[in-house]
Amino acid sequence: MSGMSTNKNPYIVEKMTLDDVPAVAAIEQMVFPLPWSVHAFEHELRYNSTGHFVVVRLRQHSAVGKKTVSLRRNPKREPKQGPTPRLVLGYGGFWLLLDEAHICTLAVHPGWRGRGLGELLLTSLIDHATELHVAVMTLEVRASNLGAQKLYRKYGFVRVGLHKGYYSDNHEDALIMGTEHISSAAFQGRFQALKASLWPRLAAGGFSMQVDYQVTETRRR
Ligand SMILES: CC(C)(COP(=O)(O)OP(=O)(O)OC[C@H]1O[C@@H](n2cnc3c(N)ncnc32)[C@H](O)[C@@H]1OP(=O)(O)O)[C@@H](O)C(=O)NCCC(=O)NCCS
Repeated sequence: MSGMSTNKNPYIVEKMTLDDVPAVAAIEQMVFPLPWSVHAFEHELRYNSTGHFVVVRLRQHSAVGKKTVSLRRNPKREPKQGPTPRLVLGYGGFWLLLDEAHICTLAVHPGWRGRGLGELLLTSLIDHATELHVAVMTLEVRASNLGAQKLYRKYGFVRVGLHKGYYSDNHEDALIMGTEHISSAAFQGRFQALKASLWPRLAAGGFSMQVDYQVTETRRR
């Protein structure tokens, strides 16, 4: 996956691996009323060849060529409790359905929002979809989720439909949003300009927030 990050920003976007799943599922439980389970993410990574999932983490915690990063303060003194999650600040993914990339998940840890990481993840998914010669990107978003809708609109997604009462927890409607052809000059012109203005924001970064995964809540169901 190219074009996901530059050396000037403190973050890196990498392909999601099974080692990332505990941290990803923990964030998922924090942010979504109907979260995917650990098992659901593992199933996606193992068996769904249409799935493309990424995580964002601090560059210094890149998983490439490294063993699993420990989150325990003193791993020598604390007993091992199964796989140790890698540090993950956010994640996203799409399913490739013919020439359509359907974004099925996108989330940033609550302590790391407002720094451009949602945009970094979305731009990475768009870049990857472009590499795969996808025509359009689509997604569903809760009608009340105005922050996420604003993010998607910024990147050229528009409302293309509505699923009435789509969400089983509160029967809220889902807006269906979609792009024009992502290889079109209009889409790419806007996209590249937005990406260019994202890098300085990412470079301003910040390391003050702690990551609290509450990993004990991610037991397999
Ligand atoms: C939506 C989400 C991924 C955004 O992540 P983020 O890292 O905070 O977003 P960014 O800092 O990259 O913000 C990018 C843009 O998103 C929009 N945005 C994000 N959060 C917003 C909010 N709370 N209110 C209004 N706009 C918001 C803005 O357009 C912003 O650009 P701007 O600062 O130039 O106005 C994050 O809030 C999240 O994880 N939410 C819970 C999960 C979720 O709802 N996922 C979407 C499911 S469809």
